[in-house]
Formats: sequence, structure tokens, C-alpha cells
Amino acid sequence: TQPFVIAVDGPAASGKGTIASRLAAHYGLPFLDTGLLYRAVGLDVLTTGGDLGDARAAEAAARALDSGRLSNDAALTSGDAGEAASRVAGYPGVRAALLDLQQAFAAQAGGAVLDGRDIGTVIAPNAQAKLFVTATPETRARRRWLQLTGRGDPITYEAMLADIQRRDERDAGRGAAPMVQADDAVLLDTTDMDIEAAFDAARRIVEAAR
Ligand code: C5P
Repeated sequence: TQPFVIAVDGPAASGKGTIASRLAAHYGLPFLDTGLLYRAVGLDVLTTGGDLGDARAAEAAARALDSGRLSNDAALTSGDAGEAASRVAGYPGVRAALLDLQQAFAAQAGGAVLDGRDIGTVIAPNAQAKLFVTATPETRARRRWLQLTGRGDPITYEAMLADIQRRDERDAGRGAAPMVQADDAVLLDTTDMDIEAAFDAARRIVEAAR
């Protein structure tokens, strides 16, 4: 069989992560959440007392990253890590340091599923299936807020919405690999979908590309 790569991009809390991991399980493909790489780099800068405004510190952290720890570091999913991730993700040197690892993952013999912001545009431009998953900022803020408050994080909905909007602007507005829908990606708006409906829609898009 042909190697099959599925690229899933989109903004925070659009549903892309859940969709991507379910597609991976469905097709029996390895899955990489590339946001975790940027989160680990951001967190490493913070925990070593560094400054997120210092591109060289962030680049050094990216080059030293041990990708083996990604699956078992719960701190990576915090709001602070997400914010730190989006700060360091703007540095071209950080993106360059994380490129080979991501492209090697996408080049595995049987194929792979990757989710992020620049998978369809930069990491795997030849992916057989590309999805750009989105939803309104209000819907995404509500989802993320329910998730975070559900595990005891005392953030307000208003703060969450401001956070989401700031992150969208930073990710879409940066010069290095900005978040943008690839020309050949299919747009999936999950605003009025629950996860089952979103997964079904995603699977139909992938089936049409196979
Ligand atoms: O998807 P997640 O919320 O984990 O991503 C955290 C941050 O990492 C994003 O806001 C974005 O700035 C950055 N990122 C990126 N490119 C990717 C994945 C994530 O710039 N492929």
C-alpha cells in the first residue's frame, strides 16, 4: 500500500487534535501532535529561568529537545505552556530546529497523521489528505474553558476568549510559517458539531482523498 499522510491544521481548540488522533487510530497510523514540541520548548525556557523574548535561548532549547518526553509530561497541556509555545513558535530558528524531526515522522513508510499549524504548508506539503479545522473563537474559548475548569484551573471564560484571540493573531500574523489554510486543504468548520460529527466529516474528507 501507498504511504498515506494526513495533515491536520487549525487554531487552538478547533477540535483538530481530537480529530487527528481519532483518524490515526481509525487508519492505524502513527500520530504526532506537533504543538507538544513547541510547548516543550516554551516550557523549557520558562523552567530554566529564561526569557521568552530571547530567540537564542529558545533556539537552544529547541535544539536540545528530547522528543521522548512528549507523551508523559502533563505540564505540556497547561494554558501557560500553550502561551509560551506560541511565543517561541515565532522564531525561525526554533522552527528550523524542529523541522527534521517532524519531516522524518511524516516520512515513515506506512504514513502518518500530524496536527499543528503548518503541516499542510511546510512540514508535509505533499500530504495526500489535508484538513484545516476551525470554529468560531467563542466556541473554541468555551470548549477550552470547560476543559480547563473541569480539571480545576480557575480561569474565566472572558480570559479564555482573550487568550484564544491573542494566540490566533500571533499564530496567523507571524512571518515564519504563519497559520494559514493550504490551497489544497479542505476546510472543516466544527462550530456546530460535536466530536462524533466532526470525526465523521473528517473521515469523509480523508476517504475522498484516498
Ligand atoms: O496546538 P497547540 O495549542 O498545542 O500549539 C501551541 C502553539 O504552538 C500554537 O499556538 C502555535 O504557536 C505553535 N505551533 C506552531 N506550529 C505547529 C504547532 C504548534 O507554531 N505546527
